[in-house]
Amino acid sequence: MRERGAEAVVSRETYMGRDAVRKRRVPKGYRHPDLDASLNSRRMRNEARLLRDARSAGVRTPIVYDVDPRDASIVMEAIPGRSLKKTIDSMGRDAESLCESLGESIGLLHSAGMTHGDPTTSNAIVNGASVWLIDFSMGIPAAGIEDMGVDVHLLERAMASAHPDAPWAFEAAMRGYGRTMADSAKVIDKVTEIRSRARYT
Ligand SMILES: Nc1ncnc2c1ncn2[C@@H]1O[C@H](COP(=O)(O)OP(=O)(O)OP(=O)(O)O)[C@@H](O)[C@H]1O
Ligand SMILES: [Mg+2]
Repeated sequence: MRERGAEAVVSRETYMGRDAVRKRRVPKGYRHPDLDASLNSRRMRNEARLLRDARSAGVRTPIVYDVDPRDASIVMEAIPGRSLKKTIDSMGRDAESLCESLGESIGLLHSAGMTHGDPTTSNAIVNGASVWLIDFSMGIPAAGIEDMGVDVHLLERAMASAHPDAPWAFEAAMRGYGRTMADSAKVIDKVTEIRSRARYT
């Protein structure tokens, strides 16, 4: 099952003189310590790898400076700015092109065969006119069309719940998505299927 938030601790530090963020997975009390350590270390490595591969695919993600398997932490570039969620809340429809950029980034990811896993407007940081993606811990490195459909469906639901008065936000994201994802029609068919499945179960 997907495990949600509140288990990562993010703190600021400097790495070789640069502003950095350390993301560490805190142990879960109810899991066996050995299982916990191996799960945390696997997810940390998954996240570090996706941050790097997404960046190679042209998506703006923080540079990974270091990984430390001992405490399952990643040290990465600190991205200045505020979340796309807060940006939409304060700018309203002026944030439409930023939503398109978010969709373009997800399309680039999918074109390169990966998913984000938790595509929300809280996991996107706006810096100037650019959108950066963070928080790849649930991402899939070798994703199929079904996984991509789930990713888009998650984005749709996240936007509907975070921005109930901004239906244009998801529409803008899908315009961007279609520009960078060649197989977008197949994925959108999957999304339709997932939506109707969700309705009847
Ligand atoms: N590279 C970064 N630069 C700037 N801020 C960051 C960066 N990474 C994380 N943050 C801040 O820390 C918050 C939490 O980080 P993140 O979204 O990666 O973890 P999470 O949602 O707590 O964890 P997870 O879903 O992996 O359990 C972000 O919403 C953001 O405000
Ligand atoms: Mg997050």
